[in-house]
Amino acid sequence: MDKPHIFIARPMPHWLIEKLEQEATVDVWNKNEAVPEEELIRRTEEADGLFCTVSEAVTRNVIEQAPRLKVIATMAVGYNNIDLEAARENKIKVGHTPGVLTETTADLTFALLMAAARRLPEAMDTIRNNEWGSWAPFAFTGQDIYGATLGIIGMGRIGEAVAKRAAGFDMNILYHNRSRKREAEERVGAVYTELDELLGQADFVCVLAPATPETEKLIDAEAFRKMKKTAVFINSSRGATVDEPALIDALREGEIFGAGLDVFENEPIGADHPLVSLSNVVVLPHIGSASEKTRRQMADITADHILQGLKGEPLTHEVPE
Ligand code: DGY
Repeated sequence: MDKPHIFIARPMPHWLIEKLEQEATVDVWNKNEAVPEEELIRRTEEADGLFCTVSEAVTRNVIEQAPRLKVIATMAVGYNNIDLEAARENKIKVGHTPGVLTETTADLTFALLMAAARRLPEAMDTIRNNEWGSWAPFAFTGQDIYGATLGIIGMGRIGEAVAKRAAGFDMNILYHNRSRKREAEERVGAVYTELDELLGQADFVCVLAPATPETEKLIDAEAFRKMKKTAVFINSSRGATVDEPALIDALREGEIFGAGLDVFENEPIGADHPLVSLSNVVVLPHIGSASEKTRRQMADITADHILQGLKGEPLTHEVPE
């Protein structure tokens, strides 16, 4: 019998390709950029397994033109880029990588929070541009983190891991979630708060919610108006949760102090994006889970999902869980 066929939507290390090649023929997209839809259709029309990332739009169009597809495994915890309904209708299993990236993404979220609060990139640029004249009493004054109030929107695994870090800084932790998380409240001392109240009280507003129809543009112009003028806004979840033009206005008009962003409405963004030229913003290219260990584990779990799906076995982390 012919070996099954897998399409991998990114360059991958040899050990991973070799692991998959023991069971299947493997075709790899050898560019570090998202596979365009037409190419994705062409490369998956004969595939039994699709190994993708957050950037591929695995639409109904792609799925319906891949009659052999049994499994879609994304190397990410978020799966808003995959048409789950189309996958279910076509009896295709979908796998993702929760858990393994929680702490790494929480670390990055806290790093963003601190960098935006204390204006680190701006301060570093002063040296890079040879502009450091002398110690200046009020240069680069930022916002205190220790003892401040953190508002977490979306108290999932990563939200809780961020709260744990915040507890070490003696922060007051508020959270908003579609349902109360009483165990998390006990574990990290977070207080459930209505969204408006959280927006008004928090010194740091941190979005850690998945992109769903309910969270689409959840943080809009009105939400920014409710925040303190000294508030720092952090997003390391999905760009779709924020009304980006409203965020840009809020930052330009001084409605909030600053922002730390790892995600954007349309990725990738370039140097000409309006957020990049604002001095009160820290921008990163979606690197929340990017530690060597974590990315390796994510790739490995994704490969396991592909192999499980090809054999008709349950996936370790199947969506919906
Ligand atoms: C995820 O896993 O969903 C991240 O956004 C990609 O690292």
